[in-house]
Amino acid sequence: MSLPSLRRTDLFVTTALEPSPELEARAQVFAEELNAAYAPRGDEGMPRLFGDNPDAERALIVQTHRLLLLTRAGEELFYHPNMAFLRLGNLLRGGRDLLIEAADLRPGDRVLDATLGYAAEAILCAHAVGEAGQVDGVEAVPELGVVVREGLQTVVTEHRALNAAMRRVRVVYLGHHIEYLRSCRTGSYDVVCFDPFFEEILRDSETFAPLRRFGNHGALLPEALTEAQRVARRRVLVKSVRWASTLSDLGITRRYDSRSGKVAYGVLPGSESGE
Ligand SMILES: C[S@@+](CC[C@H](N)C(=O)[O-])C[C@H]1O[C@@H](n2cnc3c(N)ncnc32)[C@H](O)[C@@H]1O
Repeated sequence: MSLPSLRRTDLFVTTALEPSPELEARAQVFAEELNAAYAPRGDEGMPRLFGDNPDAERALIVQTHRLLLLTRAGEELFYHPNMAFLRLGNLLRGGRDLLIEAADLRPGDRVLDATLGYAAEAILCAHAVGEAGQVDGVEAVPELGVVVREGLQTVVTEHRALNAAMRRVRVVYLGHHIEYLRSCRTGSYDVVCFDPFFEEILRDSETFAPLRRFGNHGALLPEALTEAQRVARRRVLVKSVRWASTLSDLGITRRYDSRSGKVAYGVLPGSESGE
């Protein structure tokens, strides 16, 4: 018999001020999923709720049209598809995207994004593989994964291609990607992608500041790469800062470097690549 997992105390779930019964019910469902306490909001301010939950460093606030993550210090994160918007716009204008080239994506492919974040790259992949393809995402920080999952399903932009690609990204696991990869059959995806946080913070990545605050900064484990090579039929991709030693430290020599940009994608063969 397995023991019930301990309830998290670092997080609680609440609603916007003076919520409807429907909003309260939604918040309770999220609290259950995240194994965190539900704190009824009524007309209380957030400082008071943090005071009532002294171990909590963050709260998930269920608002009518979005989910908001808030830290005790008042820092926020909500879902927005900004980066995907810029990069997809470029693709639609006939431009190239290094991720799509490095992944060698084809319509109908199955892709696993093992470090989902804001899902900007997953959305690009979803566009590239089209309706016949599939893009699944794994996010280590459950509350972040829930915010992104909701955003992917509900945010409506003025760009139909972006909306369609967002809807096709499925968040399949909230937890460490090594656990998910171990549960996958050999060759169950064509491509597996990793984009762990860079040690070096790129100057123009201010949009990513909230993600950096709420995300998991663990290093990419060699075991995760080995599992990914089993699970991916064709390729495993690892993103890095172009001049960092990340890829060579992981033993990755094949790489696609952006000519003017700051990133590189390292490529490892998958289980059926024949390389
Ligand atoms: C640099 S961000 C990825 C950004 C993403 N490529 C995008 O386009 O928005 C890294 C993300 O991976 C998550 N992460 C880090 N380690 C992870 C792990 N072991 N398993 C799953 N997700 C992980 C972090 O919490 C963070 O959200």
